Amino acid sequence: MSTAFPIPTLRRYQGELLLEGVALSAVAEQFGTPTYVYSRAALSDAFAAYRGALQGRPALVCYAVKANSNLGVLSVFAALGAGFDIVSGGELSRVIAAGGDPGKVVFSGVGKTRAEMRQALEAGIRCFNVESAAEIERLNEVAGQIGKRAPIALRVNPDVDPKTHPYISTGLKSNKFGVAFTEALALYRRAASLPHLRVSGIACHIGSQLLDPAPMAEAAAKVLGLVDKLAAEGIRLDHIDLGGGLGIRYDDETPPSVADYLAPLLKVFEGRSEELCFEPGRSLVGNAGLLLTRVEYLKPGEEKNFAIVDAAMNDLARPALYDAFHEVVAVTERAVAPQRYEIVGPICESGDFLAHDRSLAIAEGDLVALLSAGAYGMTMSSNYNTRGRAAEVIVEGNALHLVRERESIESLYALEQALA
Ligand code: LLP
Repeated sequence: MSTAFPIPTLRRYQGELLLEGVALSAVAEQFGTPTYVYSRAALSDAFAAYRGALQGRPALVCYAVKANSNLGVLSVFAALGAGFDIVSGGELSRVIAAGGDPGKVVFSGVGKTRAEMRQALEAGIRCFNVESAAEIERLNEVAGQIGKRAPIALRVNPDVDPKTHPYISTGLKSNKFGVAFTEALALYRRAASLPHLRVSGIACHIGSQLLDPAPMAEAAAKVLGLVDKLAAEGIRLDHIDLGGGLGIRYDDETPPSVADYLAPLLKVFEGRSEELCFEPGRSLVGNAGLLLTRVEYLKPGEEKNFAIVDAAMNDLARPALYDAFHEVVAVTERAVAPQRYEIVGPICESGDFLAHDRSLAIAEGDLVALLSAGAYGMTMSSNYNTRGRAAEVIVEGNALHLVRERESIESLYALEQALA
């Protein structure tokens, strides 16, 4: 494990852990635990890295809302002029509620319903990233019914191996996403012939937590070949969407910087006039956030010591789901000998762990932070074991903004009804 924190705005000062200018102990005092805490500066800086690397060419950065859909987070990106990549009507509603521009929204996903299509057409989104022949027909029909023309890109499957976790690789032939390269031409011809569609672009996304830029560049070159074939048939595209996927450091990974990741892609498209779109999620929010939790019990065992904390797999599912690593840091330094702990939650499953075998100097009642939890943390949380979801806070300099209240227990069953 390296010594510098993966969250750039997190530091230790006089034994205390601070995010920007705010002591995490003060966050816990004010809002309790478990609480997700995000840094506005880290969010803005991550977005600025994309902006900077894309300067001087037409480009749109569409933040992938699924990574963290809190209205506070969305509003930070909206204020910076971001576009948004959505996968549901619900995400579209969030973007609009947070002040995002629907004209900069791209809509991905293999299962768009008619209602979602209507909602997105009425809102005037930038593009539907269409993933199948059947979706082309349905979208044409729905747009016709309400007298609109739907802008579309076909999501193609470049069949490259992103070399990442099998659950989060999406660009292989065996995945459910996109349409095969071999079918793309015929589908574009069909789409171009339909009265209520407007062929606008092409899209691809090969996977997530990519640490090597080479597979993306390979996919980009394949996509460009298709763009030229389409142009030869008179089907001209105005934008090329290369999806998201850039990885972040959780442990000792060494992901490329945004600039180094984009450089080979920009080279592929040098001299082209099409707008380039990107759909980054994790690399914009992952290392802008942490999950703050309190140690409820220390439980020494014959084989392992357990630190039972008040956060659980329902709050942060990634360790249980992907065996993902999140660095665990004690919030207040303590003069006790460090011990090795399994960091587990109170949920009644052996899979309810947050981290394995970590050396920590902690006592009952201490606060610990699970780092790099800004992406796919809160958005994948659940109410399992009738646990209210965590609160969410954005820090900004010395200021604290509560951007989601802790869920009350009554709200968890407010929609339910006992039988007489
Ligand atoms: N665009 C599309 C079409 C996607 O499917 C995804 C992520 C993104 C953009 C954003 O990718 P990113 O830049 O965040 O890598 N729950 C998993 C990650 C699932 C990613 C799904 N698709 C995790 O916790 O690691």
